[in-house]
Parts: sequence; structure tokens; C-alpha cells
Amino acid sequence: MRKKIVAGNWKMNTLVGQGKVLAEELNAFMKTYEMPDNKTVIIGTPFTHLSTCVNVVDTNRIHVAAQNCSQFEKGAYTGEVSASMIRDLGVEYTIIGHSERRQYFGDTDEVIAAKLDQCYVNGLAPILCCGEKLEEREAGRHFEVIESQLRNALKNVSAENFCKTIIAYEPVWAIGTGKTATPEQAEEIHAFIRGLIAKLYDTNAANDTTILYGGSVNAGNAANLFAQPDIDGGLVGGASLKANDFISIIKAI
Ligand code: PGA
Repeated sequence: MRKKIVAGNWKMNTLVGQGKVLAEELNAFMKTYEMPDNKTVIIGTPFTHLSTCVNVVDTNRIHVAAQNCSQFEKGAYTGEVSASMIRDLGVEYTIIGHSERRQYFGDTDEVIAAKLDQCYVNGLAPILCCGEKLEEREAGRHFEVIESQLRNALKNVSAENFCKTIIAYEPVWAIGTGKTATPEQAEEIHAFIRGLIAKLYDTNAANDTTILYGGSVNAGNAANLFAQPDIDGGLVGGASLKANDFISIIKAI
């Protein structure tokens, strides 16, 4: 059975002390909240906060994610953080290929494929992001863009590794803009992605893959998005920085 997931993406926000308080607040809530086994909560923190967050939360109830990792294994890559360093902290997931990384940091499809490989080799589960830009949607190219991003990222990914992967559909025009995709717009793409997974792997893989929606998810719109048959949860940016908002989104799943 596929998992339902609410994942926070803190991006480059909070100092360690503030992140610790946020993680503690979420942890206090999760201690008392009855969470079914097929539902998972993840917080994606800056690298500098990972160790602290792993230590303050009950990692059976809140799982910790990084937001990126190096495409290289180790060595002379000044400033980079490897997948094995992240895994070594007790972190279980990392976001890969977020549109902000594609836009500002040169994360091409090729780089993303190499990062995925590092995740699998080192036991990190990737949250692989895809999403079209506004001009691509307006030109009616959204399906084509998503298909190409996923085909390129997954080109060399075996079925065995693919089943560790979470997909996140994040239309770039909806990220941080307050402009959410409608549940119908998101569902249309999610169903398309599931169909593509069936083609690339098989229907079991398609049915078992968690596909998250991201882009201005908040306490008010989460329930309607999550009610769609192919939307298995959310990757939440801004609203993951306030404990109460994130808790409302957790409850919506
Ligand atoms: P947002 O960000 O919820 O602030 O739109 C989502 C994301 O970029 O993961």
C-alpha cells in the first residue's frame, strides 16, 4: 500500500535555535497524535540543522530530510555535502531536483540523475521534484516537460531503487506565489505521472509510488488537494515554518 506523506521544506530559513523549537513543537504534537502506519511526516531542514533535528524528534514519528546532496561520492569538492555524510547523521530522506536548485544552482537533469544515484548507494530515500514553469504551462507543454524531467532523472534507475523514491509534482508558478494549482489541475498531472511510472516500470510500481503535490499548500487548501485519488500528500514550503499550520496540514492527510 502506498504511503501518504506530509513533508516540510524549510528551504534556507530559520537559525538552528529556531529550527529546534519548531521541531520540538511538531514532536510534542506527534507524540499524542494517532498516526496510521501508512502515513508519514517529514521535515526537510537546512544541512546545519539536521543533526539537531534528528536528536530532538522521535524519528519513528517525524522523519528528517535534507534538501539536496552532492552528485559526487567524496573528495575535492569544496563546500559540498555528500549523501553518505547526510545518512551518517541519521537522516533518511533528501529532496532532489527542486525547481529552485534547477533555477539557481545548475541542477540539470544529468546532475539530478547523479544525485539520485548517490542517494540509492548511500541509503537515502530521494524526494524527486518535477514541475513546469508558467510559460511552459501557457504553451500547453506541461505534460511534455514533466515527462522529460522524469524520464531523464530515472533513465538509469532500476525498479529496485525506484521503489524507494517519492515523487513531488511542484508547478514552478505555484511555488511561494500563493497561487495553488486547483485540485483538478494537480490531479491531472499526478495521474499522468502515475501512468508514466507504469510505462517506465510496471503498474505495481505506479500504484505503490507516493506522489506529493507542492506549491502554496496551506492549512486551508490541503484537504481538497489530498482528497484527489492520485495526490498522496504534500511538499510544503512556507506553511511548514509555522507549527500550527503544518499540524493542520498533517491532520488534513
Ligand atoms: P511553497 O513551497 O509551499 O512555499 O509554495 C513549496 C516548495 O517549494 O517545496
